[in-house]
Amino acid sequence: MKALITGASSGIGKEIARYLAEQGYDLIVAARSTDKLNELRDELTNVSVRVITIDLSREQDAYDLYEHLTDEKIDYLVNNAGFGAYGKFSEVPLETEMNLIHTNICAVHILTKLFLVDMKKRNSGTILNVGSMAGFCAGPTFSSYYASKNYVVRLTEAIHEELRREKSNVKVSVLCPGPVDTNFNNTANVRFSAKGLDARYVARYAVDKTARGKMVIIPGFAMKAAKFFSHFVGERFLTGISYGVQSQKNGDK
Ligand SMILES: NC(=O)c1ccc[n+]([C@@H]2O[C@H](COP(=O)([O-])OP(=O)(O)OC[C@H]3O[C@@H](n4cnc5c(N)ncnc54)[C@H](OP(=O)(O)O)[C@@H]3O)[C@@H](O)[C@H]2O)c1
Repeated sequence: MKALITGASSGIGKEIARYLAEQGYDLIVAARSTDKLNELRDELTNVSVRVITIDLSREQDAYDLYEHLTDEKIDYLVNNAGFGAYGKFSEVPLETEMNLIHTNICAVHILTKLFLVDMKKRNSGTILNVGSMAGFCAGPTFSSYYASKNYVVRLTEAIHEELRREKSNVKVSVLCPGPVDTNFNNTANVRFSAKGLDARYVARYAVDKTARGKMVIIPGFAMKAAKFFSHFVGERFLTGISYGVQSQKNGDK
């Protein structure tokens, strides 16, 4: 069995890689930080680990990643690479946002499409896309990130339902955590307003729920409750709450 994990050099992706290695998956780990991926390869001695350096903010790299692996049978794809950009929409540099859209949306779309087609031909395989609680609403001062995760959540839900109707053995799930203790906030230049969950816990929870065919995976009681209660407030009100949550984060640290 073989798994491809994007963004495996740190945080949730690294922990998913460790857990899948524990389960006996040979790994292909992809990200920009080759040194960190090599460290992970050296740590995981029980399975074979192949390191691929890619920058998914460049659209072509997503196609190249698939092309590199045409001779490999990928049983498990984790689209985890992603980042956030804090600031008012009018103030965040367009280039940052385009990099975000390519990494968080285009790469997820391209890799999901290409590997799903192969998995459907074999009628087996698993795709875990990493969304976020940000995928359930708008995010003033974090607008592109929230919008990108809305895309990931809705795309995955639609594919999940298509596969269910086809009675396919291929599984697809979306992980939607709230704050998790990783490097994410440093990259996005924010501080979390709430204490983050442990990345190891989130990774294990996500892989276990994906194995059971769950469509949307929300780790932790607080975020499950937040999602439940969000159904009772209107979109407009939810956007206001979201602004309040984001404004507790200090973009300048
Ligand atoms: N932490 C949270 O609170 C939280 C909550 C909800 C959802 N998420 C989602 O969880 C996923 C993982 O984030 P994390 O929290 O684990 O943060 P992280 O520790 O910053 O990890 C992000 C990973 O994505 C990779 N990455 C970023 N840009 C990339 C690019 N252009 N090309 C290839 N790889 C790239 C990074 O690798 P390199 O830098 O080596 O390229 C790194 O391995 C993201 O999709 C994030 O949106 C995080």
